[in-house]
Amino acid sequence: MKHLIEPTDLTKEEIEEIVDLGLDIIANREKYSEACKGKKLATLFYEPSTRTRLSFTSAMMELGGNVLGFSDAQNSSVSKGETCADTTKVINCFADIIAMRHFEEGAALVSALNSRIPVINAGDGSHAHPTQTLTDLLTIKREIGRFDNITIGFCGDLKFGRTVHSLIKALSRYSGVKIVLIAPDQLRLPDYMKKEVCDLTGMEYKEVSTLEEVMPELDVLYMTRVQKERFFDEDEFDRVKDCFILDSEKLKTAKPEMRILHPLPRVNEITVDVDADPRAAYFRQVENGKFVRMALILKLLEWAKDNEKTNTLIPANTVRNKYRCRNPRCISNMEVNVDTLFRPAADHPEEMRCVYCESKPVKC
Ligand code: CP
Repeated sequence: MKHLIEPTDLTKEEIEEIVDLGLDIIANREKYSEACKGKKLATLFYEPSTRTRLSFTSAMMELGGNVLGFSDAQNSSVSKGETCADTTKVINCFADIIAMRHFEEGAALVSALNSRIPVINAGDGSHAHPTQTLTDLLTIKREIGRFDNITIGFCGDLKFGRTVHSLIKALSRYSGVKIVLIAPDQLRLPDYMKKEVCDLTGMEYKEVSTLEEVMPELDVLYMTRVQKERFFDEDEFDRVKDCFILDSEKLKTAKPEMRILHPLPRVNEITVDVDADPRAAYFRQVENGKFVRMALILKLLEWAKDNEKTNTLIPANTVRNKYRCRNPRCISNMEVNVDTLFRPAADHPEEMRCVYCESKPVKC
């Protein structure tokens, strides 16, 4: 059985299999209308969502399956103190597959470690959002036609932006990909992403301070919202919230075939006049999310029957219960009965990284 917690839980070939299945579903919708007859998807959403939850729901309905779950954990026994692990064990009695969104980093991993059915991470705090990555990849495939040899600009909140982290990890497996990081100092891409992903894979990257200076070289511009809910300090949020705003004027120097992606929701970082530009692909991207989630559900249910399809949730060199994570939003600091898990950093084996959220341990 396979879970999807991080984009790297899927091989490059498996990702392409899912994207290709998504394309086949788009071309042959009727063929898949009963593909999940009798199957149930549980959507466990501890954090607000419009696109991810409803696209999972719509995806399962289009496959002829059923959906159960909650969109507000406070209306479930979570409000009485039930842990993520126990909730997962309970849902295993009712469903065939789980899609979970949680504000705690590492929650989907804890769920997978306690599950006999596939768990899909539908976003865990600022850590990862692999089904958005599949959505982005299907969109890039349909709009640009390739994953190799593209220059992609990531703009906005690159620190807390889980969609950015997940897409960079997925693209780091392709050749000729260049990434341009456009963010204020406070919201730059975390060091572990630069060192453990970009440097180790040789993916070219540069950091710039304006959209204008790089616009002409981009094949894809990936805009993101500055996420108020990730800030501990409201003044800090106010200082950066309007840092990058894309409007039609700024697009004048962009290539005619460039595409603008955004995981959405947007606040003010793309002005509405841009929506009419054919390069604005973000609402087409939303629809791709449904098709690629249909493909993912089908593949994970198929792989659940295949003993050879597994993923290593905890690396072999993991140290258990020796260090404590310094990230206050890590599930190991938020819930009881969660072992702390640390593995050596890929770039510096003498440094440890939390298996749930990739943060460093508290200094001893
Ligand atoms: N892109 C995305 O995750 O949107 P939602 O928060 O609405 O699910």
